Amino acid sequence: MVNTDPEVEPREEKWEDDGFVDNLPGTPERPTASESFQSVLRRAITRRTMVQGSAATAATFVLSRPAEAAPAGGNAGEPGDSLTFRTVPTGDGSEPDIRVPPNYRYQVILKWGDPLFAGAPEFDVNNQTAASQSQQFGFNADLVLWYPLQRRVKLAVESTGQLVPAVDRFVGSTYPILKNLFSRRALMVVNHEYTKGSDMFPGYSSSNPTREQVETEIEAHGFSVVEVALDFSRKWNFQMGSAFTRRITGSSPHEITGPLRGDDRMKTSADPTGTEVLGCLNNCAGGKTPWGTILTCEENFDQYFGNFDSVDQDTRRFSTRIAAPGGESGRKWERFVDRFDLSTDANEYHRFGYIVEIDPYDPNDTPKKRTALGRFKHEGASSALAPDNRVAIYSGDDARFEYVYKFVSNGSYDRNNRAANKSLLDDGVLYVARFDAGSTVGDEMGTGEWLPLVWHAGNALDQAGYTSQQEVLLDTRGAADVLGATPMDRPEDIEVNPVSNHVFIALTNNSRRDGDPGDTRIVNGREVSSAPNEANPRNDTFDNGDPNDRTGNQHGHVIELIEDNDDAAATTFTWNIFVKCGDPAVPAHDTRFADIADPIAAGVSPISDPDNLVHDENGNLWISTDGMFFSGSAGFGVNDGIFAVPVTGAARGVLRQFLSSVPGSEVCGPEFTGDNRQLFCAIQHPRDGEAFDEIWPIGAADVSRPALIAVREVFSRKIGT
Ligand code: FEO
Ligand code: CA
Ligand code: CA
Repeated sequence: MVNTDPEVEPREEKWEDDGFVDNLPGTPERPTASESFQSVLRRAITRRTMVQGSAATAATFVLSRPAEAAPAGGNAGEPGDSLTFRTVPTGDGSEPDIRVPPNYRYQVILKWGDPLFAGAPEFDVNNQTAASQSQQFGFNADLVLWYPLQRRVKLAVESTGQLVPAVDRFVGSTYPILKNLFSRRALMVVNHEYTKGSDMFPGYSSSNPTREQVETEIEAHGFSVVEVALDFSRKWNFQMGSAFTRRITGSSPHEITGPLRGDDRMKTSADPTGTEVLGCLNNCAGGKTPWGTILTCEENFDQYFGNFDSVDQDTRRFSTRIAAPGGESGRKWERFVDRFDLSTDANEYHRFGYIVEIDPYDPNDTPKKRTALGRFKHEGASSALAPDNRVAIYSGDDARFEYVYKFVSNGSYDRNNRAANKSLLDDGVLYVARFDAGSTVGDEMGTGEWLPLVWHAGNALDQAGYTSQQEVLLDTRGAADVLGATPMDRPEDIEVNPVSNHVFIALTNNSRRDGDPGDTRIVNGREVSSAPNEANPRNDTFDNGDPNDRTGNQHGHVIELIEDNDDAAATTFTWNIFVKCGDPAVPAHDTRFADIADPIAAGVSPISDPDNLVHDENGNLWISTDGMFFSGSAGFGVNDGIFAVPVTGAARGVLRQFLSSVPGSEVCGPEFTGDNRQLFCAIQHPRDGEAFDEIWPIGAADVSRPALIAVREVFSRKIGT
């Protein structure tokens, strides 16, 4: 049956229109207007104390184990397990600073408002302007990428001011090797996913933001490209004055490429050619191409536009599955900037929701919105090469009951032709995943198929009313519905394992996966089953003691997808649920950590809300989380963090916590240096929540500031070993 409970559906709307979907979804298990952050904290700590008795044995086991020891019995440190770091105890929400294993240190490299250009204004929380913000590190850092910078490339770009073709070729031929080695100089890319006025401006009024505040927020979006260098104390230092420094913001010109370039529905009064758009917004996780460019993903772009109700029916049909606020937006940008007012120019909405490619080595490169990879709430863009060198890009659509996608280029990667590689993502086939139960139902593994989102006269997409490939790409979600893709529990980051080529997919949670067979919900403009399926098997992981009150998949899971014949261009695959997150000490969480029979004895850490992923050079999976604190009453009440887990061998599934962040923050973009001796991450919205007036980074003046940090072992051992 369709759930039309009036108590439920308004929350659904809030979720869809809520710009802060990642950290404050407003679900009943998470803080709401009627429940303070402290209240959740108290409940969570109480809950935590209750389960600590059973978890204490495991904590003692791991913490007392010498870092070098390799205990027997399928535990952390098993032969073949390269991860020997000491487990960081679960945070209880009271810690003032980031915690890492005892022999590790962290540093802040850059934080919101730090000047990036010589002469840029110093950060002043009482006087932030659009002009100053456009020259400073942006807000809420998310994706973090590291690119080795050779001296030869640096000198060439500095002397000419551009990436001339010969140097471009040199970058292309050396990047595949250098990306896995030590480099004293590097370029770093950090996304600035979104802003929150109340965290940025003293006295901010969400009902009445000023023009200056709105324009400052626009400039705090986008991403930064910066040069960093390692000093003799093994700290990374931002290089002021570098020729590579860039701030791409919410008002920077972007080129539209691929099938939708110049399409009538991409044309606006400001851009009658349909080829250039200002800004990329809500850049979440992303990835790197084999030729050393950046892929950044526009995720929750709907929140930036207002007055969708005024859009005519012909135009609305491409966005019913991803509708913007019907009237005024929560951000109210459209009060000051016409292009965010859909009653002024509805086509502007078609120009967001894409994967964006930019070359960090070319300071003059214009970011490109690659429309061939579809329009949805992209999160993650992980690349792999097929045996014939075609390029696959995996990307999730982070909303409840949305899909997992893969793009496969028609052309092939050529290490010696970097310039040609840079147009590979304009021509190819976009697929969406269907996860099938396989030969056995209920074993949390199965088979699957990549369904081509390709329009042909007479095929199912044609019969469903689409008249061209351009229409399919504009309404990617709707076309994926037609093909029978599998609705997932919020696909977040996706990463391809560098050792096994297996694809790991973070499904962060789904509070509306709460039905029984036959039950449906209206979500994102269509009716969908709210019952579990083989690949999203849990519908009640909130430990409220009432089996009739289903609470959805609160803690998320991680799927391992194995392409048939290990071919990234394959159209069929097998899959298994690698981790079902939660606290293994709480039976109601129904956790799974690969095939570890006794996760507590093995030293597994509680984890919830897996978000961003990265692999180390040995193929271990590193997971950062977003929302563990807000899963409080479900058994946590802990800080988000970073966790590491072997994916092969006897220790497969022994997931342990490596870093614990500060309350209110999420941890984003884990990324390694090429030599694996440093780990970067972004701390997003630290100390978020009005209950806290403490400030992080400690010592930062006036206000907490999202930041890029690096973690190293005191003797520069490889991270985690
Ligand atoms: Fe921006 Fe899906 O996290
Ligand atoms: Ca099965
Ligand atoms: Ca995310």
